Amino acid sequence: VKQDNYYKDAILSYPVYLGSDLWNVTGSFLQPFILQGNAFLLADTNTQEFCLPLLKKNIPGFENIPAFILPAGEGSKDLAQFGKILKWLMVSGASRNSLLINLGGGVVTDIGGFAAAAFNRGMKYINLPTTLMGQVDAAIGGKTGINVGGVKNQAGLFYDPLAVFILPEFLETLPEEQTRSGFAEIVKCAALAGKGAWEIVKNSSFTDKQALFNLTGETVKFKCKVVAEDPFDLSSRKMLNFGHTAGHGLESFHISLGRKDYLHGDAVAAGMICESWISHETAGLPGNELEEITELIISAFHPDPIEKKHYSRISSFMDYDKKKTVAGIGYSLLEKLGKPVLGRTVDRDILYGSFDYYNNVITK
Ligand code: GLY
Repeated sequence: VKQDNYYKDAILSYPVYLGSDLWNVTGSFLQPFILQGNAFLLADTNTQEFCLPLLKKNIPGFENIPAFILPAGEGSKDLAQFGKILKWLMVSGASRNSLLINLGGGVVTDIGGFAAAAFNRGMKYINLPTTLMGQVDAAIGGKTGINVGGVKNQAGLFYDPLAVFILPEFLETLPEEQTRSGFAEIVKCAALAGKGAWEIVKNSSFTDKQALFNLTGETVKFKCKVVAEDPFDLSSRKMLNFGHTAGHGLESFHISLGRKDYLHGDAVAAGMICESWISHETAGLPGNELEEITELIISAFHPDPIEKKHYSRISSFMDYDKKKTVAGIGYSLLEKLGKPVLGRTVDRDILYGSFDYYNNVITK
């Protein structure tokens, strides 16, 4: 639904608002919770510094909301912090009818959603995603969770927020590498949506504010549509895993090395190059489309080589993938731009071949 100055996607069971100057809409939604002292804020050290002041300035009463602040970064998405959030909610007097406000990127919205699902067997929550990655992907779709033993998203639930408010003003507080990271999900959705969306992304720059706003809107609409068709990820939603099978292996591997500068989008971008090659080898993706995807990713990202001696370690992290069944991991691949194929198993040799392809193209 297009409103005067914002877009409200009502295809899901909860509204997803997107637009500049959404402060009034967000404020009106929050007022009853704020007035009853029934709102609680989860933020991280970055959003506390850069985003919280904007909320305090623009939403009456926001400054009185009790807050729990996580250390910024993927390392916080773990059991220890999960336990601390639950304990804080308890001692702060939260109840089932309270509202948890998740202010942050994917780490905050994932762990906050999971804590909301678990606290008193389910309290209310909303997401205010502050990173591009959060705005176009993590905050929408009700997937919540934490990493376990360094493996991505091993524990979690589907648990929907009451609403998602996407305020582009927050993106202005981000360093460029964070914007780049979110751009990986925009590229992914365009590859899944088809030629039209692909051409638009190919010809836009994520450093242009207006272009980024438009791309965010298109990606949010696409994500909402995919989630609405398969909210519990049983079939067609799995297309969103394109790039994420190899990507999660690479991400878990880099987390294990303690690399804090390696972002989710870097892993997904590298994963999409690998999985496009696998798609070309095993699912019919035409050579020219493989080249287009590879070129676009290389031009926007600065992919790191994958050392041969690490291939097996990366692949062993992938063995913990949630997409695994007795038959193996089900990859989401592309038959062509706009035509995903789901549940494909891939031999280890082909996976290693994709790492070789990746290493070749990024050093060309
Ligand atoms: N991030 C993938 C999904 O929401 O299904």
